[in-house]
Amino acid sequence: MRYVVAAAVFVLANHAPLQAQGADGKALFESNCKKCHGTGQPVPAIKKLFPEIPVWDAAFFAARTETDIVATITNGKGKNMKAWREVLKADEIEAIAKYIRTLPK
Ligand code: HEC
Repeated sequence: MRYVVAAAVFVLANHAPLQAQGADGKALFESNCKKCHGTGQPVPAIKKLFPEIPVWDAAFFAARTETDIVATITNGKGKNMKAWREVLKADEIEAIAKYIRTLPK
């Protein structure tokens, strides 16, 4: 609670909206995306259900810019990847897009 008040005071004092670095890409990924995407290797049971889920390896990210990935998350893809724009804020989607790039080992 004290943190929330302090953060609110900070934001008001700076007359600035919450910035991108405020969103925790890892936590947002884990609560919204991991159930289908695993940690870059789709969850096996889900892969059976949605065989179109890609593996997120270095080649996947080499073929896409961050803008492409933000657009896919925002607008969805195909039948089973929904548009997240009504669930997540733009800065949250950006934070997730940055985080998933770190998944390939
Ligand atoms: C219900 C399961 C499900 C959830 C939850 C889900 N996705 Fe997906 N995702 C999919 C499927 C299915 C595809 C493949 C879509 C296609 O190619 O038709 C996909 C594809 C993608 C792709 C690849 C798009 C491309 O360029 O080919 C990205 C990036 C992605 N999802 C990110 C996310 C993020 C980030 C989240 C959480 C905010 C998320 N997904 C949550 C099912 C899911």
